[in-house]
Amino acid sequence: MEFDRDIGRRGTDCTKWDQLQTYTGVDPEYGLAMWVADSDFATAPCVIEVLRKKVEHGAFGYGFDEAGYRRALTWWMEHRHGWQVDPDWIVTTQGLGHAIATVFDTWTGTGDGVCFFTPVYHEFRLKTERAERRPYEIPMRLVNGRYVLDFDVAGQVIDETVKVLIFCAPQNPSGRVWTAEEMRAVAAFCEKHDLILISDEVHADLVYPGARHIPMDVAAPEFRHRTITLNAASKTFNLPGFRTGQAYIPDPVRRAAFQHRLRMLDYTPGSLGIAATATACSPAGAEWVEAQVDYLGGNRAVFDAGVNAIPGVWSMPLQATYLAWVDFSGTGMTQEEINRRIRNQARIGVNHGPSFGVGGAQFSRFNLAMPRHQIKDAVARMQSAFADLQ
Ligand SMILES: Cc1ncc(COP(=O)(O)O)c(C=O)c1O
Repeated sequence: MEFDRDIGRRGTDCTKWDQLQTYTGVDPEYGLAMWVADSDFATAPCVIEVLRKKVEHGAFGYGFDEAGYRRALTWWMEHRHGWQVDPDWIVTTQGLGHAIATVFDTWTGTGDGVCFFTPVYHEFRLKTERAERRPYEIPMRLVNGRYVLDFDVAGQVIDETVKVLIFCAPQNPSGRVWTAEEMRAVAAFCEKHDLILISDEVHADLVYPGARHIPMDVAAPEFRHRTITLNAASKTFNLPGFRTGQAYIPDPVRRAAFQHRLRMLDYTPGSLGIAATATACSPAGAEWVEAQVDYLGGNRAVFDAGVNAIPGVWSMPLQATYLAWVDFSGTGMTQEEINRRIRNQARIGVNHGPSFGVGGAQFSRFNLAMPRHQIKDAVARMQSAFADLQ
C-alpha cells in the first residue's frame, strides 16, 4: 500500500526530521519525528504529475491565482463540505499563519487582545505575541473525555481590548469535530462581543467516519460579516512547504481591506502552490484523501491500543486530524519526567502539552502521519520507556 512506503525524509531539508534535535532535543539518528504537523507520505499522484510537467517545462515565471484554481476550490468546498463559495471570496495567502498575521495587521493595534479556546495549536499564542498583541486563553472543559466550550468562562476571560477570536475547527490538538450548534455558539459569542472570527479549518478534510465537519459559514451564515475562514490543501495533501493557503472572506468591505493589506506587504501567490492546490482539489485528489484517511484510521487504532495499554496513559479518541493527544496525568508523573522519558528513553520528538496553553499540562501530542511500521515502533518505544508502570 502506498502509505506503507517509507519515502525517507531524513536529509531532505525538511523541518520535521532534519530539525528534530533543534526543536525537540531528540537524537536525529535514532529518533522518531512525531512533532510538527506534516505527514511522511508522498502527496497524491495527480499533484506529483502536474508538478513534474511544470518542472519539465522549465519556466518558472510569475503566476497568479487563476480561475481554474478558484473553480477547483469552490468545487472542493461544495463537494466535500456542502459549502457554496463564491469564487470572489477567495483570497490567496502564504498559508494560514500569514492570514492570521494579516488579520492582526489589518484590524488590530499593538496591545489589543486575541482570544482562543485552549489547549490549542500553540502558534495562535505565539503569533499573537510576535505581533505584540495580548493572548487571552479560554480554557475548555474536559467532560467525559471530550472538550466542551464554556461561554460563561469565555465571557469572564475577555475584556474590551479583545478584538479577535481564533477558532480551530476541527480542533488541534484534540481532534474534536464541532457540531453545527457549537460552531453557531462561537459565532454568536463573537457577535455579542464584536470580535472578528477567524475560523481555522485546515484539518477539515482529515475527518474519520462517524463525524462531519461543518464550515463556520454553513453553520452560521448570518454572522459572515465578521467571519474569515482559513483553509489550505497543505495538511490534507502534505503541501505546507508551498506556503499557499486561502482566506474565504464573504463580506466585500472586509475582503477589500484584507486584500489592500496584502498588496501593501507585496504578497502575491507562488505559481507551484497554485498549481498543486488546483490539482489536489479534484475528484482524483478526493479519492486519494479517502484512502489516506482510511490509512490514518488504522494508524490511530494501532497507536491508541498500544499506548492505552500503559497504565495511566490515555490517548483521546480522535474524530479528525492525525495528531494524537495523549494524557499522561494518570501516571502521576511530572511534566519534566514525562518529557524526559519520551525524549531520552523512547527517543520520540513530540509537542509537549504545556505549549498548547492552559489545560495542556501532562499531555503530549504525537503526529501519526507516517508508515504503520513506524507507528508500531513508536508504540514499542513508549511501552519500553514506561515499562516500570506495567
Ligand atoms: C490548526 C492549524 N492551523 C494552521 C497551521 C499552519 O498553517 P500554515 O503552515 O499554513 O501557517 C497548522 C499547522 O500545524 C494547524 O494545525
